Amino acid sequence: MTDRPSHTVLPTDTQNRALKPVAINRWMQRIHPHIEAAHMESMRALLAAVDAKDRYTRSHSLNVAKYAVEIGRRLRLPEPALDTLEVASLLHDLGKIGVADAILNKPGPLTKEEFEAIKKHPQTAIDILGHMSFLSDHRPIILHHHERFDGTGYPAGLSGDEIPIGARALAVADALDTMLSPRTYKRAFTTNHVRRELRHCAGHQFDPTIVNLTLRWLDEKPPRGGKMM
Ligand SMILES: [Fe+2]
Repeated sequence: MTDRPSHTVLPTDTQNRALKPVAINRWMQRIHPHIEAAHMESMRALLAAVDAKDRYTRSHSLNVAKYAVEIGRRLRLPEPALDTLEVASLLHDLGKIGVADAILNKPGPLTKEEFEAIKKHPQTAIDILGHMSFLSDHRPIILHHHERFDGTGYPAGLSGDEIPIGARALAVADALDTMLSPRTYKRAFTTNHVRRELRHCAGHQFDPTIVNLTLRWLDEKPPRGGKMM
């Protein structure tokens, strides 16, 4: 029998202490503000990329974020989920920086090829954001914001509850701002027109529960940009 040197095996509590030395804890506390600052700087850079593509996209994203958070509150989403929804909404069309301006700004109907190019923008956003671990909760919302409740949307053809709740809320907020904002080729819809469109699309394009609570919101207080009629 050989003697086993006892000092080669540390007691478990000593091993645990060794994994969390005081110096690492102090270092983590020191570096934490820098990590938060780096996240904020990354966010500003991404929003600047949206802004650089198209000023309309930036103001659209700001409106959509505001509407999505209001819808999220009415869905009683918890505060961290609302924060995630707000940031995802700000970045939802980031992938349009990969779509030609001639297609994005085309006033008339799109060809099949042009629409296929537009349909790539959710995946392009994910490709851009893919390496940012602090946006991992935001990516499914961004990727699926063009899914439709009946399963005929893109990119994955998800339906109903398969679509993340944040993406379902974002889809309605996105449509709301598109309808309420004037474009070079169309006037802003009246709030009554928006109500009719939302009712028409409930259960097809949009989650009917989210449509109902958005209609109640419109009855209480129309969002900025909406004309009462
Ligand atoms: Fe989009």
